[in-house]
Amino acid sequence: MPRPGFTHQLGLQAMSGTPAETKSPVTGDHLEIKDSRTGKIYTVPITDETIRTADLKQIKVNADDFGIMGYDPAFMNTASCRSSITFIDGDKGILRYRGYPIEQLAEKSNFLEVAWLLRKGELPTQKEYDEFQHQITFHTYVHENIKRFVEGFRYDAHPMTMMTAGVAALSSFYPTSKDIFDERERDIAFIRLLAKMPTLAAFAYRHVKGMPYVYPDNSLPYAENFLSMIARMSEPKYEAHPVYAKAIDVLFILHADHEQNCSTNAVRAVGSSQVDPYSAVAAGVAALYGPLHGGANEAVLRMLHEIGDVKNIPAFIESVKSGKGGSRLMGFGHRVYKSYDPRAKIVKSLCDDVLRVAGLSKDMEIALELERIALSDDYFIARKLYPNVDFYTGLIYRAMHFPTDYFTVLFAIARTAGWMAQWEELLLDKEQKIARPRQIYTGHDERPYQAKVDLGHKIKK
Ligand code: CMC
Repeated sequence: MPRPGFTHQLGLQAMSGTPAETKSPVTGDHLEIKDSRTGKIYTVPITDETIRTADLKQIKVNADDFGIMGYDPAFMNTASCRSSITFIDGDKGILRYRGYPIEQLAEKSNFLEVAWLLRKGELPTQKEYDEFQHQITFHTYVHENIKRFVEGFRYDAHPMTMMTAGVAALSSFYPTSKDIFDERERDIAFIRLLAKMPTLAAFAYRHVKGMPYVYPDNSLPYAENFLSMIARMSEPKYEAHPVYAKAIDVLFILHADHEQNCSTNAVRAVGSSQVDPYSAVAAGVAALYGPLHGGANEAVLRMLHEIGDVKNIPAFIESVKSGKGGSRLMGFGHRVYKSYDPRAKIVKSLCDDVLRVAGLSKDMEIALELERIALSDDYFIARKLYPNVDFYTGLIYRAMHFPTDYFTVLFAIARTAGWMAQWEELLLDKEQKIARPRQIYTGHDERPYQAKVDLGHKIKK
């Protein structure tokens, strides 16, 4: 926790001598670092349980050295920003957006209100909400050329490739979005992205299915409009089942933000070059496409199919524990949560609701039994492996007949709210600059160029 009256301005101070002899000029909490190469002692301020790795730069042997760096592949212990958007306590299983517990938001809010909250920091007033909802509803259409752009993909293109390219292409339709320090441009970009993601996603869905694209129905709320663009055929108006519409809206809330995950980090890194927000969000979509990030719910379904029957669960669990076949219990474990993922509890009860409508599937039967056995097994207890959000989301999407490779697209629609909030926070953060990590160079020292081939050589036809 920050200590009163303590600031970073003290910086890092170097002294000679032993720690016992040193009178530290730093008045607040600090580290004392002794450089064994020189015998010098440095004091490094601690704020928010954190030191600034830039403070280490002054630790040098010679004046022209670069100075000490921090080495942290995969950011295992490095904070890249200050953020007031999302709070996670992985040990206690807590997730809050702007201070509001995820459980309360999932029960009482809706996705649009949460999107506003993530960006603005406070819940909207009635007037603000009505205006925001109106704006989102009336920016759902995309330029006809975007439709033609999606048509240009092969029939079997992965929908996430269409999303990545489609969001990047939107940038070319809104060139003034480059004025990122103009608040009105950021406002409209936020609205356009949230409004058009479901349209783009539905076009990608219909393209793969070979079905005619359905235009937005602006008389419908957000989730209902999305389901209409997915499922409507010849009927003049599509009415989604209220349980399905509710499930989509709640899943969008749960996936709206998750602090500095891989795709959010990608949006921030790309956004730090001051590119327009469509291009930055396209980077986030690309990062989300990877199987280690947005693709885990697909893997859960494949695993359930591989198990095939409740009677095969004990053997499967044993194979996971023995490490044979390299399989893991997909949908279990989390880098941050070392207790029950708070989103998983909500998703489980949502799954019950959806399956009451769709009918209990064999997958669900296997999933419930798998969870029961794993949660009482010492291997999983000792390693604090609990179901994560992806354990049940795939079952919901499957029950609603979404194809497996479409699951990540649903995630991308929701995460757009968080990406945009995080992107704007980065832009307005005076401490941020273009993201530019350092490296430890491990290649050759200087060496003279000596050609190994004749570059003018013509290949005989
Ligand atoms: N099944 C079996 N063993 C596991 C699992 C699992 N799902 N996850 C971790 N372990 C074991 C692992 O083998 C290791 O055991 P040991 O100490 O004996 O070597 C120990 O638990 C610690 O594992 P780790 O790989 O160091 O943990 P991590 O924090 O690096 O990995 C994880 C987190 C999510 C990548 C991992 O738990 C995993 O692969 N889970 C399955 C995939 C999955 O469900 N991913 C979705 C994550 S939620 C997505 C989101 O929030 O966006």
